[in-house]
Amino acid sequence: MKELKALSIEHSNGILKILDQKQLPNHEVWEQIQNPKEMVIAIKELKVRGAPLIGVAAALSLALYAEQGASESEFMRAAEQLRESRPTAVNLMYAIDKLTQFETVFNKYEVIAKAENIFYEDVALCERIAKNGEKFIEDDDNILTHCNTGGLAAAGIGTALGIIKAAFESGKKIHVYVDETRPLLQGGRLTTWELKKYGIPYTLICDNMAAALMAQGKIQKVLVGADRIATNGDFANKTGTYSLALAAKYHHIDFYCAAPVTTLDLKCSSGKSIPIEQRANEEVRGFQVSSGGVEWTPKNCDVYNPAFDVTPAGLVTAWIFDSNVVNQGEFNNYITKNF
Ligand code: MRU
Repeated sequence: MKELKALSIEHSNGILKILDQKQLPNHEVWEQIQNPKEMVIAIKELKVRGAPLIGVAAALSLALYAEQGASESEFMRAAEQLRESRPTAVNLMYAIDKLTQFETVFNKYEVIAKAENIFYEDVALCERIAKNGEKFIEDDDNILTHCNTGGLAAAGIGTALGIIKAAFESGKKIHVYVDETRPLLQGGRLTTWELKKYGIPYTLICDNMAAALMAQGKIQKVLVGADRIATNGDFANKTGTYSLALAAKYHHIDFYCAAPVTTLDLKCSSGKSIPIEQRANEEVRGFQVSSGGVEWTPKNCDVYNPAFDVTPAGLVTAWIFDSNVVNQGEFNNYITKNF
């Protein structure tokens, strides 16, 4: 496989490494992933995360496995284990489907070429999303974003955060409000890390501050990513996205969903059929870091911890895809015309 390098995944000379996102921002630790089993664990533990990156990472680990001489049955078994590692981000299913459908028979060269393509394709899709979305950002905008949708979540510059980065780099004077994103703090740990790295002015807020900031007129736009978009425009994204969309609608603030076409699921006709991942109770009962953890609830406190919620299409001002921008009211037409 070729040399490949992104913000949090890289391949060189048969060695695949990931930047362990669980340890960010305090420690920048690169971990070698030797086989698909290790990638399954890294994805489940959110060392590797973000819808586009999960697909890319799964593809690269499978390509390496094929290159190392895995038989067809070993390869297919590993592919299915990766497919099941996280259920909501459809980019993962997209990547596994691509790598497990062969022109004629199982062939490691075809697998490697397809995995490399998935990597390069993601880089290009992110660039196009940024180009399409950047025009919506104006000087002096305060943009609210949720979770992490940047270079840590993709092979390219990311989706919502990629747009923000492109707007900043084109000289627009912007400021970003970052939702901390409970329970795993992708905003507080990862988006802040990226924004600081790029020199983009930002302020971190608790998730439950967002509506109040909107009421104070301090937010001009909300930009989020997606893990799966249904054919009616409903979309799943990190828990807390739906309440942002509701609050934005109430305050007449534009709410944008940015995603590559690989996040569209043509088999899901509405948000009701998007599978939502349920995660461990411990994530809400406290917080675990590499050096230990803290639990703040009574022992065995009952918890409900879906990783994602669904935002209905009616709350979205526009979907910013790589191919084009789809405005409110145009989603069905977009699907019928293009797929
Ligand atoms: O659980 P995570 O951290 O993988 O969730 C990520 C998100 O919800 C992102 O907003 C989404 O994947 C889009 S990333 C470009």
